[in-house]
Formats: sequence, structure tokens, C-alpha cells
Amino acid sequence: MKIGILGGGQLAQMLAQAGAPLGMEFMFLCPSEEACAAPLGQHLCNDFDDATALDRLRRWADVATFEFENVPASVIEILAAHTRVYPPARALAVAQDRLREKQTFDSLEIPTPAYTAVDSQEQLSQAVGRLGLPAVLKTRTQGYDGKGQTVLKQQADLLSAWERLGGVPLILEAFVPFERELSIIAVRSAKGETRCYCLSENHHRDGILRLALSRCGDPLQDMAERYVQRLLQNLDYVGTLALELFQTEHGLLANEIAPRVHNSGHWSIEGAACSQFENHLRAVSGLPLGDTSLVQPAAMVNLIGRLPDLGALTAVPGAFPHIYGKSERAGRKLGHVTLTADGPAIDAEFQKRLASLLRLTGEMQLATTMERLSAA
Ligand SMILES: Nc1ncnc2c1ncn2[C@@H]1O[C@H](COP(=O)(O)OP(=O)(O)OP(=O)(O)O)[C@@H](O)[C@H]1O
Ligand SMILES: [Mg+2]
Repeated sequence: MKIGILGGGQLAQMLAQAGAPLGMEFMFLCPSEEACAAPLGQHLCNDFDDATALDRLRRWADVATFEFENVPASVIEILAAHTRVYPPARALAVAQDRLREKQTFDSLEIPTPAYTAVDSQEQLSQAVGRLGLPAVLKTRTQGYDGKGQTVLKQQADLLSAWERLGGVPLILEAFVPFERELSIIAVRSAKGETRCYCLSENHHRDGILRLALSRCGDPLQDMAERYVQRLLQNLDYVGTLALELFQTEHGLLANEIAPRVHNSGHWSIEGAACSQFENHLRAVSGLPLGDTSLVQPAAMVNLIGRLPDLGALTAVPGAFPHIYGKSERAGRKLGHVTLTADGPAIDAEFQKRLASLLRLTGEMQLATTMERLSAA
């Protein structure tokens, strides 16, 4: 089976690693010469809308997929006219626009933070009047890793926020004082078979995911599964999808979807029977889905900006580093480490080892929290 992937970053790299044992071959279309997936297949180093490259990709591939959501809709149309492309174009269109995404949640009765579209400075002040402060102003398209958004705390912030983000379509959201951030990753086959992974508890700093913890048996699992199932069905989805959620005292609120494999599901490589990457490939290539159940509790720590010493990382028992092969740069995701537990539960020993990994990556606050939990 030949898989064409739009994008050649770490998600494409981990897809290709998961596909190798299944005998799959890969071609990546990615304009970056440094595409870290490139050694695992053929690399077309062209822009995403390069007609010749798209033609080559669709002639070669049995099925095409993508590793990020900002692929222009026109590119998917060109590919879809000649070959199968999964996930479907509509899922991509919904995920690309935060307004359309929230409206889709509404139509499926999936609760969201209060929101309103903002297209002018006047609408911004009206929207703040309605939703109150604090609130989060976001660009409707193109945001990632917390980019393209800002928190408004007081009236005086409106002008600077408008100057920074205004001029493109925006959305204002009520600021949610969440108890936890969670995500659920699910997969659906073309035949409509679905499977969910257990919830992931996610910790961000400066808008970037730092730590994700598998939460098997969480009381909110059923509610999250109900919401994500509605999305999968409504979008006639094929592949892996992530739904990001806020846990509040009133239950779960949907933040956004990612129509692809997701950073908060990287622990599934070691933690689940079949990873989110293998299941995405199984879904898009028409194979039966694999078992999503947790083999052992797992956590994932992102390696951001600078790589810690590999000797120190590998000295932590149960730690599995994944180094993507990208050059160091502030804020850049360079790799991740999965930590697996020895037994069926997250215990003090696991928390202690997780704290040492967090210290190695410079996440001092999270490390202290884990140390406290392990001492308790
Ligand atoms: N309405 C909100 N209330 C409180 N916090 C929020 C809100 N919206 C976003 N955040 C915080 O900012 C983070 C990034 O926001 P969001 O997921 O909308 O953007 P993103 O740039 O697409 O992020 P990513 O690429 O990491 O998924 C969230 O994970 C959450 O921690
Ligand atoms: Mg997000």
C-alpha cells in the first residue's frame, strides 16, 4: 500500500514508522528541505499547491492523507478528483475555521465556551460587552501552538489585541477557568467502525503542550466518547481525530478538533495495543482497526526548543525517547519521551520517574507537582 502524505514533519515521520511493519510505502509533499520524515520515503520538496508535485503524488499513491490542518482546500480538491483522500475534505474545512468548528459543535449539541464572531473593532467591544472579561481573542484560521490568540483581561487590552490580530476574521471566546484540559482521540474506518483511546490529561505552558497523561477509567470518558462519536459520524470521518476538551464544574466543553493524529496521543505508541498512527493508516487504507486499549498507563513529555542529554533521558526506567531529527530552535517540538508504568496504575514510583523527566526538560513547576503527588 502506497500512502501519500501532505506534510513531512514529525507526525508524518511517526506515521511512516508505524506503517513500515505493515509493508507500507510513503511519499511526502513538504516544501521544507529539512522535512524530518524525508528519510522514511520519497520526498517531494515543493509547495503544497505545486501542480506537478500533486500530480506525481496522486499518480503514485493508493491513498492520500495529511499531517496538518492548514492544507489549502483547493489542494484536497485536486487530489480527491483522482485518488482517495482521507480524512474527508469537510472535516478539514470544519477544523480550519474556529467559527465553523464551534457551529458544528452547537449543531451536535456538544457544549462549547460561549463565543462570537468578530470582524471589526466595534464588534470586538460589543462582543466583550456580551461575554465579559477575561476572554480569549483568536484568529479563525491558521492558529497553532497558541499562536494567533491573546487573552483579554481588561478593557485596556482591547486596542492592543485588535492591533495585533485585527484585519482577519476573528472569534472571541469566554475564558474558561477549567479544572483540567483533556483530549480524546478516536478513529473511524470507511465502514463506520469506531474506536476511542482513553482520555489524555494535557498540561500546556505558553500555549504549547508539555505533558500528556493517559487517564484510563476517568469518570468523564463516557461523555467524551459520546461527543467524539457524534463528530465522527457527522463528518463521515475516516482516520484518527482528536477532540480537545476543557473540564469544568458543569462538565466538558469542546475547544477544538484536529483532523489528524495529535500530540496528546503520542503515548499510544508504547501505551496502547495499537497506536494512533497505526490506526490512522489502518483506517485510511481500509484495514480493520486495531485495539485502542491501554496496555499500561503512560505519559508523554514533549522536548521543546533544546534536547536534553540522551544518556540522562534513557537512564530513567520506562522512558522511551523519540527524537525527530530537527534542529534546535526556541519553541520548536524536537521530540518527545513516553514514560510507561510498571503496573496497571499510576503510582508514586511512576510519578517520581515522571518528575525526573520533567526536570530534564526544564518543566520545573510540573516536576514539583509530580514530586508532591508521589510523596503524598
Ligand atoms: N476559551 C479558553 N479559555 C481558557 N483557556 C483557553 C481557551 N482557549 C484556549 N485556551 C488555552 O490555550 C491553549 C491553546 O488554544 P487552542 O487549542 O484553541 O489553540 P491552538 O493554537 O490550536 O493550540 P494547539 O495547536 O496546541 O492545539 C489551550 O490548550 C488552552 O490551554
Ligand atoms: Mg488546541
